[in-house]
Amino acid sequence: MNKLSKEYEKLMEEAIKYREKAYVPYSNFKVGAAILTIDGEVYGGCNIENASYGATNCAERTAIFKAVSEGTNEITAIAIIGDEKEITYPCGICRQVIREFGNEDVDVIIFTSLDNYKIIKLSEILPYAFTKMDLTK
Ligand code: THU
Repeated sequence: MNKLSKEYEKLMEEAIKYREKAYVPYSNFKVGAAILTIDGEVYGGCNIENASYGATNCAERTAIFKAVSEGTNEITAIAIIGDEKEITYPCGICRQVIREFGNEDVDVIIFTSLDNYKIIKLSEILPYAFTKMDLTK
């Protein structure tokens, strides 16, 4: 584990804070996420469940949609905290949404605490992605 930058530490703290806001009456599985934009802005989000389960929104997408709706659409890093004991990886749909607003080099920081984290590249968990490039050939 390389030493965390102050910027990534702040991002992780934001994800921890947003995890507490999770609305999870059905799974009781809280997730918090925070994204760093190309302009250095940070947006946090939590998972928001629904009695109609399919209407649930993951924490990652809540954070990303908040950013995009504020006019920002370039992500450079995302921090994600789910389970307290084991690192939680983003679901497939969220990997695809991260890729929509970030390139394959986006840092995905998955962690359970500031002392237990992994930083991986989006391309490691979403290789051969289908992107807008495929639609403009
Ligand atoms: N969840 C997330 O928020 N992010 C993920 O990447 C994985 C799953 C949420 C959705 C649901 O509220 C709960 O975790 C259980 O699936």
